[in-house]
Amino acid sequence: MHLQSCSTQAIYSREDWKRGYLSQTQESAYWIDDIEGEIPPDLTGTLFRVGPGLLNIGDYPVNHPFDGDGMACAIAFKDGRAFFQNRFVRTQGFVEEREAGKPLYRGVFGTQKPGGWLANLFDLRLKNIANTNIIHWGGKLLALWEAAEPHRLDPHTLETQGLDRLDGLLDTGDAFSAHPHIDPASQFDDGKPVLVNFSVNPGLSTDITIYEFAPDGTLLRQHTHAIPGFAFLHDMAITPNYCVFFQNPVTFNPLPYLLGFRGAAECVKFDPDAPTKIVLIPRDGSRNVKIVETEPCFVFHHANAWEDNGEVVVDSICYESFPQPDSDSDFRDVDFSQIPEGQLWNFRVNLQNENVRHEVIERRCCEFPVLHPETVGRKNRYLFMGIAHPERGNAPLQGVMKVDRETGTSQVWSFAPRGFGGEPAFVPRPGATEEDDGWVLLLVYDAEKHRSKLAIFDAKSIDAGPIAQLNLKYHIPYGLHGSFTSEYFGR
Ligand code: CO
Repeated sequence: MHLQSCSTQAIYSREDWKRGYLSQTQESAYWIDDIEGEIPPDLTGTLFRVGPGLLNIGDYPVNHPFDGDGMACAIAFKDGRAFFQNRFVRTQGFVEEREAGKPLYRGVFGTQKPGGWLANLFDLRLKNIANTNIIHWGGKLLALWEAAEPHRLDPHTLETQGLDRLDGLLDTGDAFSAHPHIDPASQFDDGKPVLVNFSVNPGLSTDITIYEFAPDGTLLRQHTHAIPGFAFLHDMAITPNYCVFFQNPVTFNPLPYLLGFRGAAECVKFDPDAPTKIVLIPRDGSRNVKIVETEPCFVFHHANAWEDNGEVVVDSICYESFPQPDSDSDFRDVDFSQIPEGQLWNFRVNLQNENVRHEVIERRCCEFPVLHPETVGRKNRYLFMGIAHPERGNAPLQGVMKVDRETGTSQVWSFAPRGFGGEPAFVPRPGATEEDDGWVLLLVYDAEKHRSKLAIFDAKSIDAGPIAQLNLKYHIPYGLHGSFTSEYFGR
C-alpha cells in the first residue's frame, strides 16, 4: 500500500526502525525464489553493497553503526533470475574479535574497549572495518573504508582475499577514500573511463592525494596537495577538469580521543561561525588549487558536479550543521527532531571572480544521491536519492525520489510505515539512449517480516511503485554504499 502523507508527523514506529540495526550473523548464498512481480529479463549484472553487519561484538554493542564490521552483499541478475549472497569481510579485527568475543579495538565513532578510559588511553590502533563502499574495478572487487587500505574480495563468493595495497601504491595503513568516482570519458585518456579516488591525511594542514586509474587498474596520475587547516573529507565530486571538495567548517580537538574518553570522530566539532571552503584541485596535477568560501554547512555526499560557462556547478546533500555523534547516548535512541536533515543544495562557483551562489533544490530530508553513470561530471538531468517519508523534518529514510533538475519536478515512492531504505542504485537498460531509461534498485528493510527485500523500479515511473520485489530470507542491517557492474557474478 502506498501511503500518501503531507504531515511532518513520524508515521514509522521507532521499534521497527531499530530492529533494522540488529546484527546479522548468518552468511548465506541462494537463488531468490520469493518474488512479487517479475525481474526484467534484460537486467544483467551484479549489485554489490556493503555496510555494518555486526552492531554488537559479543555482549558489547558498538557505539555507532559506522563502527560496525563490514558485511558485503551481492545480488546477481541474469535471465530474469537473481542470486543472493552475503559474507563478512574477514578483516584482521573481525577475526580477532570473533575469537575473543569482545571489542579489542577502539572505533572511530566512539566504540571503546571494555575497561573504561584507562584501557583506551593512548590506544590509537584503528580497526579497518571495510564497511563503507564496494567497487569492481581493474578486475578486482574491493571493500573500502576511508581511513585504511581496501580489502580484496572474490566477486563470485565474496570470500576475503586480504588487504589490497593496489600493487604497492599504498603503504601499511594508508588511507584510501570510500568514495571513488568514475569519469565515463576522461579527456586526459582519449575519452576512456577512469576511476578517480583520493586519500586524506588530516592535520594542522591537510594533505589530499588524488589517484586516477585506468580500467585495467593501472595508475595513470597521482598528485598530492596541502590545504590549510584540518579537513574532514568523506566524498568529492569530479568534473572533466577538477576534483571538488567541501572543507566543512569543523575543528578537531584530539585530547578526549588520546585520553581514551571519545572516538576520534567524536572530537570533530562544527564551527557555525566559520565558512565552508570549496576546494578545486585540477585533475591534470597542476598546482593552481582554488579555494573559495561559502556560508557554513556540512556535507557528507555530493550528487554530481559539472562545468558550465566558467562556473563549476555542484549538487550536494547539505546539513545546516554537523550531526555530531554523542557517545553518552545510544544511537538507536536518537531524537531525529534535534538533528538537522540533509537537503539537496546547488552551488555555482564562478572561477573568475570566485563568487559562490547557492540555492536549495529539495527541502525534503534526503541522502545517498545517485545518477546515470554516463552523466558523472557532466550536467545531469535526473537524480535518484533516498528520502524520508514526511515532506519536512528529519526522519529515517523510507523511500526513493527521482528529481528532474530540468523541470524541477520529482517523483516519489515510500515504503512507510514499515519499510526502511538507504542508497538506491541506477542501472541503465542495455542499449538505452534516454538518461532515465533503466532501473532503480533499492534494498529495503521490511520490519513487518523482519527481513530485507530488493525493490526494482522502472526509473521512468518511480511513482508507479516497484515492478518487482525480491524477498530475501533474512534481514540485512542498514547499509552504506554499493555499486552495480554489468558483469554477472552469480553461481
Ligand atoms: Co559515504
